[in-house]
Amino acid sequence: PLNTDSVNFITIINYLRARLPIELSQPRVAIICGSGLGGLVDTIDETKCKKVEFKYEDIGFPTSTVQGHAGKLVFGFLGKNQVPTVCMVGRFHFYEGHNLKEVTLPIRIFKLLGVKILIATSAAGALNKDFQVGNVAVLTDHISLPGLVGNNPLFGPNLDKFGPRFPPMTDAYDYDLRVLAFKASSSLNFGEGVLKEAIYCFVGGPSYETKAEARFLRMVGGDVVGMSVVPEVIVARHSGIRVLGLSLVTNMVALGKGKSADPLARESGVIEEPPPSHEEVLKTSRNRALEMQNLVKTIVELTETI
Ligand code: 6GU
Repeated sequence: PLNTDSVNFITIINYLRARLPIELSQPRVAIICGSGLGGLVDTIDETKCKKVEFKYEDIGFPTSTVQGHAGKLVFGFLGKNQVPTVCMVGRFHFYEGHNLKEVTLPIRIFKLLGVKILIATSAAGALNKDFQVGNVAVLTDHISLPGLVGNNPLFGPNLDKFGPRFPPMTDAYDYDLRVLAFKASSSLNFGEGVLKEAIYCFVGGPSYETKAEARFLRMVGGDVVGMSVVPEVIVARHSGIRVLGLSLVTNMVALGKGKSADPLARESGVIEEPPPSHEEVLKTSRNRALEMQNLVKTIVELTETI
């Protein structure tokens, strides 16, 4: 297993600092590029300064095992106003077998580098029937199912240098950043209703939800469901990093009860959503990659105003 002790944070920071030009050594914004958003790093402006890339394996990060999630950390200036930014191309998931300290190690590194704002992007399934594939969920809150039963990245001795033992998660998703997301959407002419404020349910995966589980998540107030985001958000909030969560709705989640085999039961006859598949998730991500990239880039430009 990976060394996630504080001493190792320093080793990683020293490695990065030794290889970064001074202008990029204190990024203001960190972006986690979820499925299909890796292309964002190709839009980094290199007129002022070339981007700097580090393969995860070279810097002591965990290595990603999911296809479509290549692993590198990219530093560069993003947007017309040249905002110093660090992008994670590929993230670590709990379901890959990483523990939550490994999953969230990059967030600790970002804090030590001086990052003020985290934009966590991801794919998610929609539980809310008012949502559509291609919508972007702007997270307002989360429900961490693993967290509620003891899987929290802050479990164990508290790192007092980062934040308090019992950090609040009230208003974890920054209001001002959400306003920027809507401003960016309208300036890009996304159309009304493409962005949807949403509560994100974090589940462990890797199997998708059953229909009964999906109904449960909907019943407790979830709008979207996914297998990432929340551990990183908790660690970011622990150390006071402001957070924006954006989840591309890649598929609608089946919520119906389906056909009954009991001849005495009334036939439901409803048309059901197909089961989710990774292919469908990747396909939607690919289709919406440019919109997501433009949205994130425009938001980053606007962060200068808050
Ligand atoms: Cl339907 N469920 C979960 N847990 N994660 C997803 C998803 C569904 N679609 C994309 N990511």
